[in-house]
Parts: sequence; C-alpha cells; structure tokens
Amino acid sequence: MAIRICSQKEIITFWLETDHSLYQMQVDGYGLLHHLWYGEKTDCEMQYLLDYPDVGFSGNLYEAENQRTYSLDTRPQEYACAGVGDYRIPAVSAVHADGSNALDLRYVNHTIRKGKYRISGLPAMYAEDDAAETLEIRLKDTASDVEVTLKDGVLPALDMITRCAEIHNQGETDVILTRAASFCLDIPYGSSWEWMHFHGRHTMERQVERMPLLHGIQESSSRRGASSHQQNPTLLLCQPDCTETSGVCIGAALVYSGSFQTQVELDQLGQVRVVMGIHPDLFRWTLHAGETFATPEAMLSYSGTGMETLSHNFHRAMRDHICRGKYQHIERPVLINNWEATYFDFNAEKILHIAEEAARLGVDMLVLDDGWFGKRNSDVSGLGDWVVNEKKLQGGLGSLVDKIRAMGMRFGIWFEPEMVSEDSDLYRTHPEWAIQIPGRQPNRGRYQLLLDMTNPDVVEYLYDAMCKILRCADISYVKWDMNRSICDWYTSTLPAARQGEMAHRYMLGLYSLLERLTSEFPDVLFEGCSGGGGRFDAGMLYYCPQIWCSDDTDAYERTKIQYGTSFFYPISAVGSHVSIVPNHQTGRVTPLESRAVTAMAGSFGYELDLNHLSETEKEEVRKQIAQFKAFGSLIHNGKYYRLTNPMTDKAAIWSFVTQDASEVLVQGMQFRTEPNMVRYVVRLRGLSSEKQYRLEGTEQVYSGAALMYGGVLLPRSWGDYTPVSMHFVEA
Ligand code: DGJ
Repeated sequence: MAIRICSQKEIITFWLETDHSLYQMQVDGYGLLHHLWYGEKTDCEMQYLLDYPDVGFSGNLYEAENQRTYSLDTRPQEYACAGVGDYRIPAVSAVHADGSNALDLRYVNHTIRKGKYRISGLPAMYAEDDAAETLEIRLKDTASDVEVTLKDGVLPALDMITRCAEIHNQGETDVILTRAASFCLDIPYGSSWEWMHFHGRHTMERQVERMPLLHGIQESSSRRGASSHQQNPTLLLCQPDCTETSGVCIGAALVYSGSFQTQVELDQLGQVRVVMGIHPDLFRWTLHAGETFATPEAMLSYSGTGMETLSHNFHRAMRDHICRGKYQHIERPVLINNWEATYFDFNAEKILHIAEEAARLGVDMLVLDDGWFGKRNSDVSGLGDWVVNEKKLQGGLGSLVDKIRAMGMRFGIWFEPEMVSEDSDLYRTHPEWAIQIPGRQPNRGRYQLLLDMTNPDVVEYLYDAMCKILRCADISYVKWDMNRSICDWYTSTLPAARQGEMAHRYMLGLYSLLERLTSEFPDVLFEGCSGGGGRFDAGMLYYCPQIWCSDDTDAYERTKIQYGTSFFYPISAVGSHVSIVPNHQTGRVTPLESRAVTAMAGSFGYELDLNHLSETEKEEVRKQIAQFKAFGSLIHNGKYYRLTNPMTDKAAIWSFVTQDASEVLVQGMQFRTEPNMVRYVVRLRGLSSEKQYRLEGTEQVYSGAALMYGGVLLPRSWGDYTPVSMHFVEA
C-alpha cells in the first residue's frame, strides 16, 4: 500500500510512500492540512520537527484564542491561501461576490483509490491501476462554499508523486479565481537549500543556473503563452552539498505548456515554500455556481543520492508514463530534414535529390519542413493555408511521397497550426480568427499572428485542414512548430469579464486538437517544436514523444543545451540533428563525428544536403546511421549519466548504460586541444564493480570497479571539439 492513514482523534496523518521516499501531511485539531515531510523514508511521524514560535506581526487564528504561537504565517501547509494571515506566496486566491479576497481551507474528508487520477482535457501521468494509488483530500473554506480537492498520485516504483487541485464553487454566487497553483511545497525542517533552474533564449535553451536561496521570493516563469525558451517549467531544489551522485534534492516538473510561474520563497524563519502552476498574471477564472476548475498536474520526485537518481526518476516517468503512442518505445526513424539544406528555396526536384542520397546512405525518413504550402516562399506569408503549393511541388504531395516511398524511405511534413500570416487566404477570409485586441495594432512575431485556439471553429478548421493533408498521401510524421510568443490576449468567444480565462483556454484548445489528431493518426510520429525548444515540457511530451531541442545545431553549444535538458527530460525526447559546417547559427566548425555523437544523444537525424559531402564523409554518415541503429535501444532505454559538466569542464562526456549494466556507451567531445596535453580522466558510473568489460575494437578488458573508481583516459586529441566514442561490453 502506497498510501497509509493514521488517525488519533481529529489528528490525521497521511503517509505517501514510494520505494525511496516519504511524503507526509497531517490534519491538526483546527483542520489545517500541514505539510510534515518530503524526503527519505522514515517510520516516524515527522511532526516532532514542527516548531511553534511566537513571531511578531504573524497574526493568529481566531480559534486559537490566546495561543500566540499558532499562525498561518509560520505553519507549513499543503495548499496555502491568500487573505487570511499567511503573508507568503499563496497557492490559491479567490474573489467572492462581496469583493472580498480570502480563503481559509480546512479538512473535510478524504478518499483513497487504486490507480492514478486523470485530468479531463489536460495531459497527466498515467499508470496501470496496480502501479499507482490516488489520494483525494477535500478541503472547504470556513466562510464560503468554495471547496478544494487536492489530488495526489503515488507511483511507488517510479519514486514519483503527482499533485493537482480541483477548485469547486458549491455556492450560489460566482467566485473569481485569481490564482490556482498546481502545488505548494513547504519545507520547514531547517537546512539550507539551493535552487537550480533552466533559463535561456532562442537557440540557447535550458542553460543551468544553481544558486543559494535568498530571503524573499525568487522566480522562474513565462508570460509568453508557451513554456518558453527563456525559462523551463521545471525546478530542482538541492542541499548545498548535493552533487550528481550524493546528497538530497527534490525535483518538480509541470505537465503544462502554457504560461507558468515557479516561485521559491525563503521566509523570515528560514523555511522554504515552492509554488508552481499557471502564471497568475494571465489568469482570472470565473467559477459559476456548481462549476469546477482543474489545475494542470505537477510531478515531484525526491532523491537522497544526488541529481543523477532524480534525473533517472524523471526520465523513466516521462518516457514510460507521460509519452504515449506507437513510438513511445520503438526505435525512432533516422530522418533527414530539408530546413537548413534549402530553407524556403526548394522544389520537388531538389527535395528528391536530397532524398535519393539520404536513402542511399541509410536514412529512414525525409521530413519536408516549412514552405510546402500556400504562398510560402519566405516567412512573411502563407501560414494558415494548409494546401500544397503545386508550383513548388509539381505533381502534388501524393506524387512526391510516392517517389520517396519508392526509394524505401518514409515521409514527414511540417505544420505550424496555431499561426496565420496576414498575407494568406485564411486571414483574408477570417481576419476575426487572429488574436488581436479590438482598437489596437497586434504585435507581430516573425511577421505572423496567432489563431484564437479558444475558438472551436478555429480548432475545427485546423483539424479538417490537417486531416486532409495527412490523408492525401502516405505521411508518417508531423513536425508541429510554433514560432512566436503570445500577447494581445483577447477573444471574441468570451465576455469582457472572462477575458482572463483566455490564456488557459488557448492551451485547452491546443491540447484538444493534439488529442484528436494523435488519436486519429496513431501511426504518425508527432514531433513538437517551437523555434527549437521553446515549448519543451511534459505537457507537449504527452502528445509528441520527441521535441526539436533547439534551433541551434552547433554541436558544441548543443552539448550545453542537451546537458540542461537532460536533468528532467529523457534522451528519446530530444530531437537532434547533424548539420553542415560552418554552422548556420554560430559559424563554428566541428568535426562530422562530433556532430554525430552529439546528435545521437537524442532522436537522431540530419539537416543538410548530403550530396554536398565528400565520398569519405558520406561513408562516415553511413557508419553513423548504422551505429545509431545498433545503439538506438541502449541510448533511448538505457540509463543516462552526465559524466562531466560542459558549462565548466573541458569536455562534455556522457554515457548510456543498459539496465543490467552489461554494456556502456561513452560519448561526447573534448572542447580544446592543448600542447603537451594532459589527458582527461572520466570516471564511469552505473557499472557493476564485479563485472569485466571489454573495450570494443580492442582486446583490453577492465573491471567495472576500475572504470568507475579509476576511470577512462580520453583519447589524445588533435584539433578542437574532438569526438569521444567508446563502447564497453561485458566480457
Ligand atoms: C523553427 C524550427 O525550429 C525550425 O526547425 C524550422 O522548422 C523553422 N521553424 C521553419 O520555419
């Protein structure tokens, strides 16, 4: 049993146990739901760690009478409310019919059931009924009929706990929600913490930043209508001595792709509060009598053995319990994408020429990127007109796809469904479908406007238009792009008082379209994209098992982007391609093999015209494809280890180890070569000390203990950005 309850009179303690963690909450005599513990498994009720200080200017609960030590401002809570004397970040805030803004939630009852809850219309973790349990705790406001159901999914073998909240208006009058976070985690037990988050910009996503917590609030968020390149909806809290392989850390990932806010507060007593969920600045939701609002889900995991274990927990959970569909576990096709090879300048002949060489070298699929539809010869026009441009693709899509199929390859195609160009037939027919505030000029991003995904007519149009294309030819893959941030929030589908619902309703519209299309075309592999990795989150992974990681294809920069991405997201989710040098984003020249090993730490492909390579390079490409196919399962289903930190070290080295530790592939690149170079030693991890391993291509055999405690010497390098690839197999 993953969920246990102990009650003594009105004190109820909830034990949520996974294989290696314990989450504990307790209802006290006032009905307040306290947070007690999230950490190592103990057999103790951890309430003994709670302190009840008498803190000036932290007022007291009325019922506590003269008890000056009972303050909502100091109590660790499970879903903190605004307006009643807790001055820290609230998880929920509601305005009542009389204009007051207060909630004081107290315990009503709870239920436990087998299996993991689902959230209607939103992505969430899923599991077999015998692999999860759900706890629902019902809380009620002391003065109104607002109720909250906190839902916890406990997935013991995955060391995962999920949390979402449902807010119900059981009264007769409207209630306006101005904040409804997915979870609130209070950490009262006095140790110091650091936080790690993942920031960046277009072509430079998920750079790692780790800092001590400062008193007050620190935040990582997006107001862009998408989870964004700038911040990622994930967070790692760790104790200062936490490393990859030791120490305490807690990770949280939001299963949501829209605007979000993660706040971490270090309060006056040194307690930590984390609140994560929909960004409240873009959220104002009216709950009519009888209505319920469901928040997105957050995934939580704890590790007492460093960040590596935490990453393994998230990788497994995302790969096996967020991603879905036919491609979830099977090998992904090696693809060639024409974007960096041609940009908009192509016709059928050019594409077929690229395809022919790719087929000859063993590539599985050709992906036709932006520019195949409408009047789309540059990025100023055509979006929304999902009709094949026969001037470019003489003979239509069917004929092109047939020819590519005849070469033994499959075919994939690019869409950017949520967008419209002003110079398009769609905009000329339906200007009212574009997001725009009446009386204001809209903001343009990459010359384009957004379609109002809250409008069911828009969603219906996109569904029909995309189905038509996907049915007109043998199409096996869709790249779903999204190339701008969202502002000018206004929709004609909602009255003035409800415009604050639009940002979340946009996401609901998007998710409904993704759900319909992925169910209608179960054999099609959907890859997410947003100018690279601007919407790289667990929400999108629910529909798309892989996401184009970044528009930066420079192998050196990619090692850092992929390093940051790897803290939460599995390798199979990372779309990664070999491109031409000098690189189109940085002008950097890196060896072909280094580009390949970097791209292999993902869902592998090429993004160049292979006809331009020399015969020797083509031979190398043929070998790379064979190598990726040979190692595909190890790379995608093995355990991933970050062996160096490319942000600070001289090399980016990582490894993949089979679950039974019988095989390890060590790959990466050494950044610079120095004269009289001292060779770099990297210690491997995750092997068995007792096993013997042979380095492939040699007769050398090493014990697991030697490889882990002594390490391996990286090859002596010549030139910069030199590749590393070593395969050890149990001897
Ligand atoms: C942004 C994507 O990330 C690129 O790979 C490419 O598809 C372009 N959009 C096309 O406009």
